Amino acid sequence: MVVTGAAVVPGSSVKPCPLRAPLVVTIVGLPCRGKSLASHKVARHLSWRGESAKVFTVEENATNETLREISLFFKEGNNVAIIDGMHLTRASRQTVATFCADSVFHQLLIEFTCNEKCLEENITDTVRFYRNLDQSTDWECRFREGNERHTPAFEPCAPTEGPLITVNNSEDPMFHSVTARGVRGSTQTAILGVLASPVIRQQTFYFSRHGESEYNVLGRIGGDADLSPRGMKYAERLARQLGGPGSAPDSPRPKVIWTSELRRTIHTVQNIPGPRAAIKDLNEINAGICEGLTYEEIQERFPQEFAWRDQDKFKYRYPHGESYLDLLQRVDSVVQALLTNTDVLVVSHQAVLRCIMAYFKGVKPDDVPYINVPLHTLLVVRSYGYDFVVETVPLKVECVDTYRIQPKNCSTTRTTADALVTVPAHFDAPLSQQMSTIS
Ligand code: F6P
Repeated sequence: MVVTGAAVVPGSSVKPCPLRAPLVVTIVGLPCRGKSLASHKVARHLSWRGESAKVFTVEENATNETLREISLFFKEGNNVAIIDGMHLTRASRQTVATFCADSVFHQLLIEFTCNEKCLEENITDTVRFYRNLDQSTDWECRFREGNERHTPAFEPCAPTEGPLITVNNSEDPMFHSVTARGVRGSTQTAILGVLASPVIRQQTFYFSRHGESEYNVLGRIGGDADLSPRGMKYAERLARQLGGPGSAPDSPRPKVIWTSELRRTIHTVQNIPGPRAAIKDLNEINAGICEGLTYEEIQERFPQEFAWRDQDKFKYRYPHGESYLDLLQRVDSVVQALLTNTDVLVVSHQAVLRCIMAYFKGVKPDDVPYINVPLHTLLVVRSYGYDFVVETVPLKVECVDTYRIQPKNCSTTRTTADALVTVPAHFDAPLSQQMSTIS
């Protein structure tokens, strides 16, 4: 049975659209209404969640060439095309509507408006961005002229044109508003959710794993161990970097600090000034029956599980525990909350930070479990136009490496040596004990 996504009038020639048919999103609105920032935010979010979305930027209207590119994009197995341009007239939008009806694609219109204050802020921000790239153009004049030229042509979307989301953009959440009509299915609902909160133009976030823990030293996973002596040293170094004791007067000071509920993250931020919250969704991946074990012990006790995880680390779920797929869903609310803020410091764990960094780096789900997020390293993420730039700042406090790359042999019949070949080095006893044995 084909589940259809649109009501079909009996006797009409409209073909029913299967629920999982590709979606074409047409962005409508005058220049500098926040269309591009929002389009890219939607594409980033959908791709992060496992859909394959892409923004197709057009000058004013989608041409036949654009529509051909979109058809090709869908033939390659992708499913959401966002046409970011102006599409100011009903006639230009009709071309896309006809293309969608003929090809049996879903279509969604998103119309952006904003008040005078927001428009001025958008112009200032866009001019600043483009001026950095090219100083020879009078960007301000160009945007203002474009705005005046296009305003008389603008025909707002009519209720009969198709499913429609209207966004009245503002950075202030109390003035930002969204209405929806005819929206259906999980992808369109997800888009509505992303558009519901304002896009903040300039954002900086700070991310760090906790300082090295007693479990990291021993190569054990999960648990709620406290910091090792080197982990405590990292906590002091991080505080010096972020407005705590010994920091430079101009050092950045996070407005708010989010940690997991586990001791090692809470103790890592204890010397950093600022309001803080311990958030359960930032707790490390739950390794179920493998909690507290080393990778060597997992191989010894559950060799099949260890191999299955290596075969598909993203989808593999520890018995009685979680997968990276579960984790990605768990941290969605954290990422959405981050995006309505700026100057937030997040101190969490290897797997959780991989999922969060995947959003900012635009990494595909299958590659998320192999993103390298080393211990004792501060990651600074800054918005750059509709993109983000990540700066990696190693704070130079010695620690173990916990990064295990995928081994070549992932078969369930592999030898123990093959299974353990990429396990990072660790100690067999806590560092404090080793010191006392040596002295
Ligand atoms: O080793 C530290 C740690 O945070 C563990 O607690 C966790 O199980 C692991 O990293 C996650 O990394 P991976 O998915 O690569 O095993």
